[in-house]
Amino acid sequence: MEHSLIVIKPDAVQRKMIGTILSRFENKGFTILKMKMLTFTREQAEEFYSPHQGQPYFPSLVKFITSGPVVALVLEGSVAVDVVRLMIGSTKSYEATAGTIRGDFGLGLKDNVIHASDSAESFERESQIIF
Ligand code: PPS
Repeated sequence: MEHSLIVIKPDAVQRKMIGTILSRFENKGFTILKMKMLTFTREQAEEFYSPHQGQPYFPSLVKFITSGPVVALVLEGSVAVDVVRLMIGSTKSYEATAGTIRGDFGLGLKDNVIHASDSAESFERESQIIF
């Protein structure tokens, strides 16, 4: 079994989409191992997005993820990292395929509804920051 970390972002929490998004992963067959509602501190956000440090969009990314509560989860299931990434769709929500979470519920780039680990290494690093 593999694990993936997802973060339901401030835009989706504000739009009351937590249940809708969680049900997709439960319906798919994932087990929710951990779940936490939190508001990222600036330090947590900078650490979480440290692979993007130095990018022109980094300040905007940190500002957005600290702008309100998020819901973080550890999901367990077969091929979790890749399956979850398929289910969330492309980073740019306006390019994401219909049927994916971003494709169905988002239009933004920074406000793109959900984050998910892009590798097993990212999962380990990200989950240690949150849990
Ligand atoms: S990915 O999934 O890591 O391959 O995506 P990537 O394109 O590298 O983007 C990583 C995160 O950076 C955010 N992003 C931006 N935020 C604000 N402004 C701009 N221009 C921008 N470009 C990328 C994007 O939402 C990704 O956040 P997460 O939380 O990983 O979805």
